[in-house]
Amino acid sequence: MRILYLSSSGQLGGAERVLLDLAASLRRSHPAWELHLAAVEPGPLVSAAHDIGVAATVLPLPQALADLGESGASPGRVVWQLAGAALPLRGYVASLRRHVAAIAPSIVHSHGLKTHVVSALAAADAPLVWHLHDYVGTRRVTAALLRLLARRAAMAIANSASVAADFTAACGDRVPVTTVLNGVDVESLLPSGPALDLDALGGLSPAAPGTVRVGLMATFARWKGHLTFLDALSRLPRELPVRGYVIGGPVYQTAGSQVSVEELRDACGRLGLEGRVGFVGFQGDRGAALRALDVAVHASTSPEPFGLVIAEAMSTGRAIVTSATGGASELVRPGIDALIAAPGDAGTLARGLEQLVRDQHLRDALGQSARQAAVARFSLARFTGEIAAVYGRVCPEARAA
Ligand code: GLC
Repeated sequence: MRILYLSSSGQLGGAERVLLDLAASLRRSHPAWELHLAAVEPGPLVSAAHDIGVAATVLPLPQALADLGESGASPGRVVWQLAGAALPLRGYVASLRRHVAAIAPSIVHSHGLKTHVVSALAAADAPLVWHLHDYVGTRRVTAALLRLLARRAAMAIANSASVAADFTAACGDRVPVTTVLNGVDVESLLPSGPALDLDALGGLSPAAPGTVRVGLMATFARWKGHLTFLDALSRLPRELPVRGYVIGGPVYQTAGSQVSVEELRDACGRLGLEGRVGFVGFQGDRGAALRALDVAVHASTSPEPFGLVIAEAMSTGRAIVTSATGGASELVRPGIDALIAAPGDAGTLARGLEQLVRDQHLRDALGQSARQAAVARFSLARFTGEIAAVYGRVCPEARAA
């Protein structure tokens, strides 16, 4: 068995971490399988994949294609940009086709919307699996392309039932879709273990003992709700012993889709939060980052396809406040493993935070049941087993292995 993974990014956003964890887990469960990765840009994904024994290559996407993105752009503009990128697209599809032919994989498993499109156009002999990490319904041009190309894919895997429903509504039922909730490494994302010094990383003086640390760990995509988070922090009574942390940075290239740290610092100034929020940048050790928090916040303002950080925060036994929309609402039981805030609503988020800052017993109880739920539902063993079963459905060789 030889699997070729395709990634639309070389960075380590959620979709790429899922790909990497899957590859690491398959290396253990199916050591005879040969794993390859082609990413469209260099970056930490590529080196991390290489380190775990995946034959990783970069097939650089021409700039005109790398710049394409639908968030915030009108369909007319995207079609116009796409037309301008037609020639580089043809060239890229041809080079991908040669790459696939040289590897001769048993399965091609694509993890990004751009690689879904180019892999379908490259029309390799191997069965093609589209792994859906994001909604396509709101990306009208992408949805139209995927609808047109759907017959080329043998199967689609959605990271939540919500993403599966969105895909079927937008692209029809020409390709069978199955839901496989993501897994996280529950064996290393433990409730106790090393924790980062977020104050030092954020350039803040050490917080007074008893300070409750509240953090948002996310890429800097606008819809991840950084401004809502800061707004909520500013609404907390001044006497509460609380400090906020923004963990992460701008990961993806798509123009205009990211907030900048300057913009967030300005917002802190406006909201009277100077000195009370630390910006700690991207952290590779997510367990150590989460363990440094008492409360993990997920504040996405649009429906979240899955919300890997929620599963990671559950695994590390944190108390969570989440805007449980879209797939994210499939992850938690409100009031049992997390408190819920309305998306984009700083008022309800502030209320949840205040409750948790004041009540350590509640934090502990939520954290404990979250950890149990993560072990039961989000283990990598469960995830990898379900993905291997999909491979078995599209490729007889995988059934035999
Ligand atoms: C994408 C989604 C996110 C999900 C991740 C892994 O980044 O936006 O919700 O957790 O993929 O599937």
